Amino acid sequence: MKLEILKEGDERLRVICKKVDKITPRIKKLVSDMIETMYAKNGVGLAAPQVGSDLRIIVFDPRTTRRKHPMVLINPELSELSGEIRGDEGCLSCPGLWGEVTRSAHVKATGLNEKGEEVVIESEGGVLSVVLQHETDHLDGILFLDRLDPAQQLRVMKEREEL
Ligand code: NI
Repeated sequence: MKLEILKEGDERLRVICKKVDKITPRIKKLVSDMIETMYAKNGVGLAAPQVGSDLRIIVFDPRTTRRKHPMVLINPELSELSGEIRGDEGCLSCPGLWGEVTRSAHVKATGLNEKGEEVVIESEGGVLSVVLQHETDHLDGILFLDRLDPAQQLRVMKEREEL
């Protein structure tokens, strides 16, 4: 089932999400609905608060191949952040807005998949590193807009007035 994506300004995007303590059928349904919604909107990632849930769940597919390869992280934790990459980001909750964000290049992400198995994902840069940090930020109520430098924030403000 496709879910409605909340837009910036909705307070539910600003909550600190709660850990999932048990993977129930309801959680599995949420995960599969989030994946369906992400693909329907052509996104590379989606976090639970974007569909109105306050649970620590992200789904993503950095689209490095033509085949769909959806990944899920429940209760994601990022560690071993190092290096720096800078690139354009957008967000399904902030339609029409883009901006350059500086992120760590290397990131190690751990968490559970929808079967409750431990997952470790290491990324050395590129879309996967960015998407892991962008989506995990959502679980702490942070949008990429918050991470823009002042000049970029000003540009986005002007663009928004023209939208
Ligand atoms: Ni986003």
